[in-house]
Amino acid sequence: FINQKLAGKKVIVTAGGTKEAIDPVRYIGNRSSGKMGLAMAQVARDLGADVTLITTIKTNITGIKLIEIQTADQLMTTLKEYFPTTDVLVMAAAVADFKPVNVADQKIKKNDDEDIFTIKLTKNPDILKTIAATKTNQFVVGFAAETQNLLANAEKKLNSKNANVILANNVASAGAGFGVDTNKITLLQKNQAPDTWPLMSKIDVAKKFWDFYLANKL
Ligand code: C5P
Repeated sequence: FINQKLAGKKVIVTAGGTKEAIDPVRYIGNRSSGKMGLAMAQVARDLGADVTLITTIKTNITGIKLIEIQTADQLMTTLKEYFPTTDVLVMAAAVADFKPVNVADQKIKKNDDEDIFTIKLTKNPDILKTIAATKTNQFVVGFAAETQNLLANAEKKLNSKNANVILANNVASAGAGFGVDTNKITLLQKNQAPDTWPLMSKIDVAKKFWDFYLANKL
């Protein structure tokens, strides 16, 4: 490892897209690969932190506590348990905005005389906002993936979600979308000018983020 500068720090990272069940075999998902969160967890581990990764993505990463979840509700329940005793929460998971109102017990069958099938959705809670509202000394990092008005939207999230920092990226710009190994980040914090980083690998983004965290003696 590089050094042990995060030794003694408890870090929770959430990663991947939630999978909202429709029936026992189907779900509503999204294109999040979990790579950004995984990189955050890996670098924190290499810096000596005690890392818990809560994720929807299968991974064989070692040296951290791994908790696999599927839905936003499970993510919320898990965070309620683990957040109070953590030092840092990095909320990189792509939480579905909506989930099916009803989850069918059995596989839904198609009906020969119906060409249109409707699934009613209900809003998921904003996990980051809910959890960060209970903050004592935790340092909370949110992400903002936007396709337009990046800074204005990210600024709004910084305030409304009680986050210390928002890492914003324009998912429509080359090399910064879901699934790729690179990212282009703008870091926002209160009363500071936004800081835009060059396009770099997700591992390098994670290194730069933890450097920022350590440099600010957080
Ligand atoms: O509102 P938006 O989805 O753009 O916010 C992104 C940030 O909020 C991410 O850090 C994401 O993990 C978190 N989030 C959440 N619960 C939701 C939606 C987003 O915690 N229901």
